[in-house]
Amino acid sequence: MTQEKQTFPRFTLDRRVEHILLILSFTILALTGLPQKYPFSPVSKFMIDAMGGIETVRIIHRVAATTFLLESIYHLVVIGYKLFVRREQASMLPGIKDLRDAIQVFLYNLGLGKGWPRMGRYNFIEKAEYWALVWGLVVMALTGFMLWNPIATTNLLPGVIIPAAKAAHGGEALLAVLAIILWHFYHVHIRRWNMSMFNGHMSREEMAEEHALELEDIEAGKLPPPPTETERRRRLAIFTPVAAVVSVLLLLGVYRFVTFEDTAIDTIVPIEQSNVFVPQTPTPLPTFPPTATVEVLPTQLPAEQTAAAGQPAGPVLTWNTGIGDLMVDKCGACHGTLGGLTLKTYDAAIAGGAHGPVIVPGDVPNSLLVTIQQLGKHPGQLDPQELEQVIAWIQAGAPEE
Ligand code: HEC
Repeated sequence: MTQEKQTFPRFTLDRRVEHILLILSFTILALTGLPQKYPFSPVSKFMIDAMGGIETVRIIHRVAATTFLLESIYHLVVIGYKLFVRREQASMLPGIKDLRDAIQVFLYNLGLGKGWPRMGRYNFIEKAEYWALVWGLVVMALTGFMLWNPIATTNLLPGVIIPAAKAAHGGEALLAVLAIILWHFYHVHIRRWNMSMFNGHMSREEMAEEHALELEDIEAGKLPPPPTETERRRRLAIFTPVAAVVSVLLLLGVYRFVTFEDTAIDTIVPIEQSNVFVPQTPTPLPTFPPTATVEVLPTQLPAEQTAAAGQPAGPVLTWNTGIGDLMVDKCGACHGTLGGLTLKTYDAAIAGGAHGPVIVPGDVPNSLLVTIQQLGKHPGQLDPQELEQVIAWIQAGAPEE
């Protein structure tokens, strides 16, 4: 029968190009995003290494996110054109019939009820997916903006919004990926291999199953006619400037999104490789009965300590003959680039940090630098011998030379 071979146009070329852009940006976002959500998994580590390291992965993620946003703006303009200029039906809007169809399909799948429903141009399956995508875009764009521009965000909102945005961003991402794999793949690739999004058309049989009501309208010639040329021109004269202004505003929004503030990628320039993760030294178990421990106490004089350690005390160093190099070497990676306390020059070290001096010449117990180092839990630790040298130096008045 010729009728069986008959096909019906479903998606125009630009729709299909949009879909391909969506596949690409979505897949790239998922592949570069999920390993960041599960950073401790060996699979994630492998993927991140394979893609060129975390910094590259983050940049790829941002490029794909920007593509996604641009594609959404384009989509909005197209929808506006179809609804306003061509006066097409808003066939993606959900209605009460979709709920009824969903229930009917549910019953059908259980072998109950009236059979498969007759549905319009977009059935409830497609509408659910479309609106999930719209919702997902809004959530991902808002939380993505917060993660991309954390400093700007926390100028307005409390700091806890950043970890909250991170949780929402990762959770929604997982949901979206699972929805695509379970819902979308099932309905368009497993239940029936539906190629209309790639070749643009559907067979009569497919139409009858998925879009019976639309098929009926097409065959009865009941689709609303396209607007006349004069109508089209008149509407276009209104639509074009409005669409232009809205898209320029949205594009500016995307531009702001991308350039709003320096990201973690370039805010903290990696100057050198250093161990950021330094495991804490385990707290020694208490001894019973408590015994006097030979701790490096601020009141002890360097000579006593070195005597206790059984080592001869060396000559007291000055900033220029060793202490300076030691600070630059052991502390400079953080104190010198992060703002706050700088330990890279003598003057800066003596000036101290945000809370005032950390070195009080001649007064070891009041020198915060020593106190912090003695706690033994600082991300950058001097070893005991180096600490002794620093204590001796402060005791001697912290001389520069
Ligand atoms: C891995 C990074 C890192 C290294 C290395 C490091 N620190 Fe720090 N240090 C920090 C951070 C983070 C703070 C907290 C900053 C704050 O509170 O503003 C800090 C705070 C301090 C403070 C208190 C500053 C203040 O004004 O409250 C002192 C003193 C200090 N560090 C000394 C040292 C010394 C001495 C070394 C080298 C042995 C060192 N740090 C190495 C990260 C580091």
